[in-house]
Amino acid sequence: MLKLPENFIFGGATAAYQAEGAVDKDGKGRVAWDTFLEENYWYSAEPASDFYNRYPVDLKLAEEFGVNGIRISIAWSRIFPKGHGKVNKKGVEFYHNVIDEAHKRGVEPFITLHHFDTPEALHKNGDFLNRQNIEYFVEYAKFCFEEYGDKVNYWTTFNEIGPIGDGQYLAGKFPPGIKYDFSKVFQSHHNMMLAHAKTVKLFKQNNYPGEIGVVHALQTKYPYDKENPADVRAAELEDIIQNKFILDATYNGSYSQRTMDGVNHIFEANGGSLDLRDEDMKILNEAKDLNDFLGINHYMSDWMRAYDGETEIFHNSTGDEGTSAYRIKGVGEKVFDVDVPRTDWDWMIYPQGLYDQLIRVKEEYPNYKKIYITENGLGYKDEIKDGKVDDQPRIDYIKDYLTAVHKAIQDGVNVQGYFVWSLMDVFSWSNGYNKRYGLFYVDFDTQERTPKKSAYWYKELAESKEIK
Ligand code: NOJ
Repeated sequence: MLKLPENFIFGGATAAYQAEGAVDKDGKGRVAWDTFLEENYWYSAEPASDFYNRYPVDLKLAEEFGVNGIRISIAWSRIFPKGHGKVNKKGVEFYHNVIDEAHKRGVEPFITLHHFDTPEALHKNGDFLNRQNIEYFVEYAKFCFEEYGDKVNYWTTFNEIGPIGDGQYLAGKFPPGIKYDFSKVFQSHHNMMLAHAKTVKLFKQNNYPGEIGVVHALQTKYPYDKENPADVRAAELEDIIQNKFILDATYNGSYSQRTMDGVNHIFEANGGSLDLRDEDMKILNEAKDLNDFLGINHYMSDWMRAYDGETEIFHNSTGDEGTSAYRIKGVGEKVFDVDVPRTDWDWMIYPQGLYDQLIRVKEEYPNYKKIYITENGLGYKDEIKDGKVDDQPRIDYIKDYLTAVHKAIQDGVNVQGYFVWSLMDVFSWSNGYNKRYGLFYVDFDTQERTPKKSAYWYKELAESKEIK
């Protein structure tokens, strides 16, 4: 029998822009995504899952189904419509109401301050490539700590710094849609880590109550042929882009020689440079032991083969399996013909990858303190038939990944909770609405919620703590 620890959090994750809708209601400022979706995609984030109005319904369902934690994010532009300056009282009030309701339902809120949604007024000035953004973020965070501090126990600065740099400046699937620009990728990673470090320092200096951490998306990278040194190097370089550079900043407070050698190699092949200042490194170093927890979002592993041709990335946004392409000059290419199942969006399902990543954090960054799996789940084209949703593949997915988490705990990794992405079906940034992840099915026309088979399974899991 596999049993998870007594105080384990069995959570559900959401994010403001993906759940709330009401993108222009009650004084909310625009975000870059509003314009980007209008210009490039066939859907919008309105009304998404209408969490803005229906949060009492979702939190009641959470309580009924044993979900004892919820990840929500605060939309920066609901609080400061322009990113700084004038405060929007209605936005402030909304999050008081959501947090109060969560506590009323016995669902612990884990609050993220930034989940991909920089206010447009700041985004158009360069987002985090513009160092002024760092200061505005810290001011916004300080406001939230003071406003909500007495009712929030868990704060997260950023959600997925890695995929932001990747989506905005490498794959070009996030606004401003720039491709293959490695200066911007690494500068965005670095500046956001700096904003994180400054915020954590402020949090601790001012003795705000509760805990603070950051959520990183850690995908595990393996060489296609582990006997081939060129493939081993490809996996390492891809790991540096997506994981290691950011983990070094978080827990070493500096970039290791090996990491920088990799970054410089990528710059030599693709062009690029970085602005790293002594004062930045001092701040990263001062914050490295102040993180109370690390949130890990994990969905996939990748197999990398050496590659020296021209860079080409194609993002499969439609769920047509086999349409993805990812190859970067002098780094490597993703290979899909390995004996591993994948989702319709070409995400390789490999629970061992989560185990390996957890062990890696423990071994390479022993000052990590504790971990929450802040996102994991299966993107699936769920169908509702006769009022029922049979999503057995999602149950199997979660069960297998939780088994890997259980094994990591046995092997000494301090994991304290798991949040399934997502609590209810939500809007998906670059996929729209046919990629569903929720425990609760959402009819996006009527906004009616229907618990899926996985919700009943999750309830049983949360009650017994046994993975079966
Ligand atoms: C990670 C992101 O945090 C979330 O916003 C996204 O929808 C999920 N991955 C699934 O792609």
